[in-house]
Amino acid sequence: MSSFPADRSFALGCDADDPLASFRERFVIDDPSLIYLDGNSLGMLPLATAERLAEVVRREWGTGLVRSWAHWIGLPGRAGDLLGSCLLGAAPGQVLVCDSTTVNLYKLARAGLGARPGRDVIVTDDDNFPTDRYVLAGIAAERGAELRMIHTDMDSGATAAAVRAAVDGETALVSLSHVAYRSGALADMAEITGIVHDAGALVLWDLCHSAGSVPVELDACGADLAVGCTYKYLNAGPGAPAFLYVSRRLHQALRQPIQGWFGQREQFQMGPDYDPVPGIGRFLTGTPDIAGTAAVEEGARLLAEAGIDRLRDKGIRLTEYLIALADSWLAPLGCAVASPRDPARRGSHVCVHHPEAWRIGQALIHQGVIGDYRTPDRLRLGPTPITTRYTDIWDAIDATRRILTSRDYEDFPAEPAQVT
Ligand SMILES: Cc1ncc(COP(=O)(O)O)c(C=O)c1O
Repeated sequence: MSSFPADRSFALGCDADDPLASFRERFVIDDPSLIYLDGNSLGMLPLATAERLAEVVRREWGTGLVRSWAHWIGLPGRAGDLLGSCLLGAAPGQVLVCDSTTVNLYKLARAGLGARPGRDVIVTDDDNFPTDRYVLAGIAAERGAELRMIHTDMDSGATAAAVRAAVDGETALVSLSHVAYRSGALADMAEITGIVHDAGALVLWDLCHSAGSVPVELDACGADLAVGCTYKYLNAGPGAPAFLYVSRRLHQALRQPIQGWFGQREQFQMGPDYDPVPGIGRFLTGTPDIAGTAAVEEGARLLAEAGIDRLRDKGIRLTEYLIALADSWLAPLGCAVASPRDPARRGSHVCVHHPEAWRIGQALIHQGVIGDYRTPDRLRLGPTPITTRYTDIWDAIDATRRILTSRDYEDFPAEPAQVT
């Protein structure tokens, strides 16, 4: 192995020296033997969130009833500002927690396209997350625009050169994922944003796999728009509301396509016509999910305490270790790392290619190692810096090695079950 000793005692030593190790105790861990490498699908439950949700439900809702709206009403903005300051590099008044990523993507892409009259091309890449491609295709069809697809290698991710070649004077909007959902490839936000602006277009970033795993500097990069979910690294729970970012310089120019009453000036005047507030609040739609937004706030507080730079540092160490073990133990058994090897070009998860990735993933779950499968033949392993231990990585790759050697994966069905 290149730079790491193969012995498990090395991982034990790293855990002992880990400055973030104690954060694991602040999560619900009902099965200490479970190895969880899927926090980039659904993050674990923080103890503080369980308490906060009980408080929101029992006291704020149960006792406070409708009176609680007095402080609930500002929660989407407060949670957004917290996310902005600790994880997204966004000054206050530009981030909201609301709706789903898919809905926010629609709102901002539609608004972005509308803000560039006379231009009718939306650019994305063919490896972007499905919901992004589908939403953009829908907007293009709705508006008679062209959806221009960049071809992206699924293991190495979107490049600045490909974006440069795809944009022109017709381009209104470029929409890309910052960290690719499959390979974990990390796009260069600053450089790509600059290229898009040079073409006179706006850029919309999907931060689902970057918020809470890599430092994001939306303001410093000059980004225009961004969306992201909160149930992965932010640990806010299944279906928790997403976030959106709109740069302050665009608030007045952008027209929110879903003209809901929560974006309305003097909302409770119940006026006859839609007249949105001047600031970020115009990107709200309807009544926010208060329990979910409270969970986002708790998750963000925990990450803020850990510090995004320390989380990033540990994310790099964990993925470097994972890749080194995979190269050493799994490559001779037919696997290949299918993520960027340069840590500066990688988020916090790694894909391993094997033709039987689906069955290997099932065999791992059977043995208490939860990773994920991604089409067509990738085993996706997502260390979550706030909870994952170095020994989890060692144990997971060791389990994979044993499954491959014994061919135990052959006991599992060859195909994912089709949902009808
Ligand atoms: C990159 C990316 N975008 C969007 C989504 C999905 O968004 P939604 O929360 O609306 O289902 C995901 C979900 O995993 C994702 O990984």
